[in-house]
Amino acid sequence: MLNQEVAKLLNDQINKEFYSAYLYMDMANYYADQSLSGFENWFFVQMQEERDHAMLFRQYLLNNSETVQLAAISAPDKKYDNFREPLVLALEHEEFVTASINNIYEAAYKNKDFRTMQFLDWFIKEQGEEEKNADDNIKKYDLFAGDPKGLYMLDNELKARIYAAPSLVL
Ligand code: FEO
Repeated sequence: MLNQEVAKLLNDQINKEFYSAYLYMDMANYYADQSLSGFENWFFVQMQEERDHAMLFRQYLLNNSETVQLAAISAPDKKYDNFREPLVLALEHEEFVTASINNIYEAAYKNKDFRTMQFLDWFIKEQGEEEKNADDNIKKYDLFAGDPKGLYMLDNELKARIYAAPSLVL
């Protein structure tokens, strides 16, 4: 059994990861509507990664004999005025997720839950990558997407992203 404060935070994180998946699917849908299939692809892959994150938290709880309680997933409510806005929102969202993971880590540390700290190490590193990728997208957009040809080429680059299952296996 886990410390119950830590278990509750881990359970809550499942909902945050599913909300992340929902948010990124919403962004993929937005870009699909705009015929930017590369941006759509990038966010669709991101959506799959977030679903995987939710599953890892689920499995970790089950592996520790904890009950998983699912909660309603909020609907994304953003309307985007331009192609750049979802990129900025994605970075802000990843910073929010990083803070949430850090908060669980802090609770685990406080409760001497070294097993959970070890489990979360993968997510601490992953969040660094997630923030970097989101920041790169904004920078590339600002550098290259100032005209239709540049936007077309960036869209083609983002089309190349492929889904890979997480390196963490429980
Ligand atoms: Fe599951 Fe993008 O953090």
